[in-house]
Amino acid sequence: MKKYNIALVGATGMVGRKFLQVLEERQLPVANYYLFASARSAGKKIPFMGREYTVEELNESCFDGKDIHIALFSAGGETSRRFAPIAASKGIVVIDNSSAWRMDPQVPLVVPEVNSQDILKHKGIIANPNCSTIQAVVALKPLHDHYGIKRVVYSTYQAVSGAGMDGYSDLEKGIQGHAPKKFPHPIFSNCLPHIDVFLDNGYTKEEMKMIEETRKILGDQSLRITATTVRVPVFHGHSESINVELEREFDLSELKQILSDAPGLVLADDPARNQYPMPIQAQDKDDVFVGRVRRDESVDSGVNLWVVADNIRKGAATNTIQIAQHLISYWESKEAEGR
Ligand code: A2P
Repeated sequence: MKKYNIALVGATGMVGRKFLQVLEERQLPVANYYLFASARSAGKKIPFMGREYTVEELNESCFDGKDIHIALFSAGGETSRRFAPIAASKGIVVIDNSSAWRMDPQVPLVVPEVNSQDILKHKGIIANPNCSTIQAVVALKPLHDHYGIKRVVYSTYQAVSGAGMDGYSDLEKGIQGHAPKKFPHPIFSNCLPHIDVFLDNGYTKEEMKMIEETRKILGDQSLRITATTVRVPVFHGHSESINVELEREFDLSELKQILSDAPGLVLADDPARNQYPMPIQAQDKDDVFVGRVRRDESVDSGVNLWVVADNIRKGAATNTIQIAQHLISYWESKEAEGR
């Protein structure tokens, strides 16, 4: 069986480290890994897969002579905008975790449980959606397929790890009374209705990402969606209240069954036993959890969901690696056909 070479760009960051953990668990057919980060980290040693890897500086020529097949990028939008096209021009398939390429019509935006068919439309770059969008669409897809979605209202409760190492450190140090460095206000004992920058329409960029990315992934530009995204003092795991208005009438127990049968989604919904999804339970899991499923009695055909996932795993590293696994399976099947 052929083995592949994979590059990790941003290997020293919050998501980069999770790449290493998820790759150790999943054991892809890989011959060589290459770890890249900024010049600050060049030379740093990282134990991985029973070996010691040396971090290399990301630069224009760093991919040369390495026969890299896939590059997983998680080093911020600016780095992706500059280096993803360089990697792609060398025949590498980039799976990019930043927001740089997500809305580019040439770039598939993929959550494998929802639209894996889009992976093969790539022209060198595949985008991994925003963490909040990923967990939302895993829950929305089966409802859209069965009942049609008319309107969605998102309200999120997002962990500090979504803001990288610096966001994480603001909560850790904030608990000890230190002033924040990443966020504009203290995050400890607080909630910030402000994720990413504010735009002219009064929404934050995070809110507009959720709106636009949901439409792109579900392949339906007519979906009416609004969002309020909030940073909360939780280290790991995003929670979302999702209010959905459906096109068609539904039976609540049938709808719960549909959610329960959906790929990548776990129904955790037993209020009598105080069971509902929570970030501390979702931590280190690859699934998306849904609960508090109940009829919205204020509209004709509405339902409320509470959706939780580990934002660094399913919201970032795991989803990216699942896309890589789909690509490798496809290449393997092509190779088997050619034999
Ligand atoms: P470094 O650790 O050398 O700064 P996080 O979002 O968790 O802070 O992680 C960001 C990741 O992106 C880190 O691995 C960081 O490397 C990397 N990174 C940031 N800027 C650059 C850059 N200009 N070139 C390459 N890697 C970068």
